Amino acid sequence: MTTAQTVAPRYERSKVYDAIRENLWIHFTQMADFQDPAARPTVIVRGEGSTIWDDQGNELLDGLAGLYSVNAGYGRREIVDAMVAQLEQIPFVNAFAFASVPAAVLADRLGELAPLGGNARVFFTSGGSESVETALKLAKQYQSNRGFSNRYKTISRRGAYHGTTMGALSVNGVTSIKNAFGPLVPGARHVEMSNAYRSDDDGYDAIEKLVAFEGPETIAAIITEPVQNSGGCVPPASEDYFKKIRKLCDETGILMIMDEVICGFGRLGALFGSEVFGVEPDIITTAKGITSSYAPLGAVLVRKSVADVFNQGQKFNHGLTFGGHPASAAAGLANLDIFLREDLAGRSKIMGAYLRSELEAALGDNPIVGDIRGIGLFQGVELVKDRATKETPNDHEAMVWLTDELRRKGIMLRVDERVDPTTQFSPPLIITKEEIDRMVLELTACITEIGRRWGKIGSAH
Ligand SMILES: Cc1ncc(COP(=O)(O)O)c(C=O)c1O
Repeated sequence: MTTAQTVAPRYERSKVYDAIRENLWIHFTQMADFQDPAARPTVIVRGEGSTIWDDQGNELLDGLAGLYSVNAGYGRREIVDAMVAQLEQIPFVNAFAFASVPAAVLADRLGELAPLGGNARVFFTSGGSESVETALKLAKQYQSNRGFSNRYKTISRRGAYHGTTMGALSVNGVTSIKNAFGPLVPGARHVEMSNAYRSDDDGYDAIEKLVAFEGPETIAAIITEPVQNSGGCVPPASEDYFKKIRKLCDETGILMIMDEVICGFGRLGALFGSEVFGVEPDIITTAKGITSSYAPLGAVLVRKSVADVFNQGQKFNHGLTFGGHPASAAAGLANLDIFLREDLAGRSKIMGAYLRSELEAALGDNPIVGDIRGIGLFQGVELVKDRATKETPNDHEAMVWLTDELRRKGIMLRVDERVDPTTQFSPPLIITKEEIDRMVLELTACITEIGRRWGKIGSAH
């Protein structure tokens, strides 16, 4: 057997394809699509820098950093070595009773770095949904420990994605992925998303009105994402949107949760997304970039005064076997070293500004580009049928073509249709100018072709 016929030692390519057809369940994917023998699933086998390769040797520039998550880029030997060293020493420590050295040290370092007033306490999980789930449970028990056992409601935003476990799904605002699973956790209320392109109103008043309507004495927490992923890299519509939420929470005893599963770890040009908006929430949920996805890990960072409430009353009755797994925590420490040494957050700010200016130069006047938005290396390009009316094109086929055509050109971007169709850039923070140029060039060519098909761009363009 030659190397070309294998995708990894011991596995024949055809056996891998068979296993995908018959056994593997790819998340959010219609597996029946692979029943057709001609439909070949993509198997990714290798990565270096910002580039990944499939098992056929095709190269893809990964403008999505895996899933908004390989922030330090592929091929970081340092993270791998840190994990191996930890695994050799001890592969697992019972998180319900003991502490591991890397988890304690990572908690200490993140507790200092997080914009939570310093010395925050950290509850580790194994990923983003678990972080959100944990933050919601923590907020509810915090309220009940303080004597407010009726504060069980939450406020989140329509269109928001906060994960897939039942609690996280309940605060989720993406209807299409919720409706098969009801009844969901009671008390989850939703308000309009804050979106400057779609409304003159920044959306804050709706939150204030909902709090007044429900009664603040029934609400445990408000959860928002600094720049909302679903809907396509949507920053808040006013500079003080989050500051107003902060003030409302201070006045009413509601906890402010920032879901930084994507926006944390440099994505917006600062280590934490909250910093970009000058706010200190009560709880920050993280995952993905915390290890640059070299290992599964999430963390719920909790303001000390909130965590201290659990010292007087009931302990936090919650745990996860793999929360803060020692190898993952070791990966988190090595990742943090890289972040600080290479100033990846600063690099995200600089390269994000470059990406934005190149997108505006290439697509700013395009008749089917409605909005170009985002912060740092989290940028989106929203397509519209008509710039004047901002009409959303309901052309799923064109969006599938866009994804496929970009891939054929060797570029991986996400064409997000969960709200309005927006192509998202969320590359590794080490992306180079040349790589950005390639992505912008190819996206521009694809969008121009779609504009032609929609009759908005003449063939002379
Ligand atoms: C803002 C936000 N919260 C939570 C999650 C859920 O994270 P995970 O997929 O690691 O469970 C995601 C995933 O993309 C996310 O974007």
